[in-house]
Amino acid sequence: MKSLSNRRVLLGITGGIAAYKSAELTRMLTKAGAEVRVVMTQAATEFITPLTLQALSGNRVHTTLLDTEAEAGMGHIELARWPDLVLIAPTSANFIAKIADGKADDILSTLLLATKAPIAIAPAMNQAMWSNQATQQNLQTLQQRGIAIFGPESGEQACGDVGLGRMLEPAQILEMSGALFDEGLLAGMRIVITAGPTQEAIDPVRYISNRSSGKMAYALATEAAAAGAQVTLISGPVALATPDRVKRIDVISAQQMLEASLGCAPECDVFIGVAAVADYRPAQFAEQKIKKSSDTMTLALVKNPDIITAIAALEKRPFTVGFAAETNDIEQHGAEKLARKKLDLLFANDANATLGSDNIGATALWPEGSQALGPASKRLVALQMLTLIRSRYDASSNRKS
Ligand code: C5P
Repeated sequence: MKSLSNRRVLLGITGGIAAYKSAELTRMLTKAGAEVRVVMTQAATEFITPLTLQALSGNRVHTTLLDTEAEAGMGHIELARWPDLVLIAPTSANFIAKIADGKADDILSTLLLATKAPIAIAPAMNQAMWSNQATQQNLQTLQQRGIAIFGPESGEQACGDVGLGRMLEPAQILEMSGALFDEGLLAGMRIVITAGPTQEAIDPVRYISNRSSGKMAYALATEAAAAGAQVTLISGPVALATPDRVKRIDVISAQQMLEASLGCAPECDVFIGVAAVADYRPAQFAEQKIKKSSDTMTLALVKNPDIITAIAALEKRPFTVGFAAETNDIEQHGAEKLARKKLDLLFANDANATLGSDNIGATALWPEGSQALGPASKRLVALQMLTLIRSRYDASSNRKS
């Protein structure tokens, strides 16, 4: 179920015996990569405890409209803005009537009025209540408003009746929810991106670094997450906010970036080394601040590990993408790095024009070809790069299988 990866699902639960199936639905949604927040009506809490849903979703469960604790954290309006999908399962006959009427007298109905996200409901009720004209008219109203209606199915009911009104099984609801989303370009792909400069400490107050801003890596992380990928950003010190839906691991030195990268690599499909890793670090770290006692000073440096080379050398290696910021003979140096570091793809660019800038032009190089990208904003070029990564990744997976 790739299309639910990285999606935000607000799961509403109303009162009904089928509420016990919501626990399994929550587990399945989470397993499919969705982030789930649960909102329950008071009646729902009579059938299943908020604690169960909290444990399965990993998020606090909301049950009342005016909860001082919730309003201080994620209040109901904020909660209404949060999801990519509002899914109500089970939806009782009473709640269907409430939605049709546009009522806002509990947290879930209020959220429905305030949200702009698509809404889907999975009705569950006695077969006579389902076929009642009032319910059928309400359902028509909901359908006209674009609300998706999943099920119900026919079968034996808790009350002993047999007929239409059983809630669909969680697996079917999951399938239908996933189908509401277009498959993103990178749906389900796990991507690790290194970002920014590294700082190599000389003494407690001084370090060696470079002018990398981290903007290109953050633009890639933003676009990759929006395209459905699960993104981990291993970031050196930068002045940028963490993009939405991206997991960020902060590091300072090249050594720390290497350790974090090796830790994440076995769990990823694509590794993109965008970081401007300091090539050298001081041979010795002075525990105390170095005094300016002489007119000249010599600092002994040692080479830092090459992170991307280490990743590309792993036995079970991810699709490995590098960058080369050059000041001269850009494509020639880029091609040499592609081969020497054994990369699958490399983006070569002009360091003078790119460092710190919001724009970039680059040449994509891979063993069998090349392509010019940009110049345009880093956001736009990031999208072109990800499109190329997707197609080269697919080509290399096909070769392997
Ligand atoms: O050799 P150069 O620094 O130009 O190579 C650039 C590419 O190698 C980038 O993808 C960069 O993130 C990566 N790199 C690395 N570890 C280093 C140096 C560079 O991963 N120590």
